[in-house]
Amino acid sequence: MSALPRHPSVTLSADSAAEPFALRVLRLADLPAVMAIERRVYAQPWSDGNFIDSLAAGYLAMAMWHRKDKTTPPQLCAYFLAMKGVDEMHLLNISVQPEFQGQGLAQRLLDALVQQCRDQRCAQLWLEVRQGNERARQVYARYGFSQVGVRRAYYPSHQGQREDAVLMSLPIQEAACLPDIEQEGRPS
Ligand SMILES: CC(C)(COP(=O)(O)OP(=O)(O)OC[C@H]1O[C@@H](n2cnc3c(N)ncnc32)[C@H](O)[C@@H]1OP(=O)(O)O)[C@@H](O)C(=O)NCCC(=O)NCCS
Repeated sequence: MSALPRHPSVTLSADSAAEPFALRVLRLADLPAVMAIERRVYAQPWSDGNFIDSLAAGYLAMAMWHRKDKTTPPQLCAYFLAMKGVDEMHLLNISVQPEFQGQGLAQRLLDALVQQCRDQRCAQLWLEVRQGNERARQVYARYGFSQVGVRRAYYPSHQGQREDAVLMSLPIQEAACLPDIEQEGRPS
């Protein structure tokens, strides 16, 4: 297997002692926790193999960890994977554990991804989302993504049917990236 991606770890907020969330590179060892979330939030989840192949391919993959208090071990609660093109980034998967949804975690993951786009000189961020996934579409639209097309029958759906994908894009120059995200080890 090829080397795991080397992307900087990210901590959230300068006041990290009080910050219960931390963003880290997603590793193969995180797969059981990722799959537990994946199976809960999607009717058609990615397989273990999809994640293993993505990590082996060196895709950008990061996970959000939550620590309830000092005595509790951190728990993986959200993640994203993205594939870099020549001068663009493609978001492949973004998922938040149900108990942690509605707290702005997707927005924080998108902030970290936008920061990576800036670091890696990507001008555009792309994604596909199921037409019927209103919640995700709303999150992306609020973040600044625009709908730029529809891919007909892109996703498998229930009982052998197919569902359209909405193609959305975000010009990175226009993205509002939160200033309180600190990235450690960024190349100068
Ligand atoms: C889509 C998904 C990633 C969104 O994640 P999320 O962390 O719940 O999203 P956010 O919290 O950033 O934003 C969602 C809502 O919380 C609100 N919010 C943001 N910060 C908040 C905060 N601090 N407190 C409370 N709510 C907050 C947002 O305004 C938004 O409001 P809305 O419910 O009126 O739309 C999540 O629902 C999910 O994992 N779904 C299943 C997998 C999926 O569909 N992934 C996308 C595939 S394309």
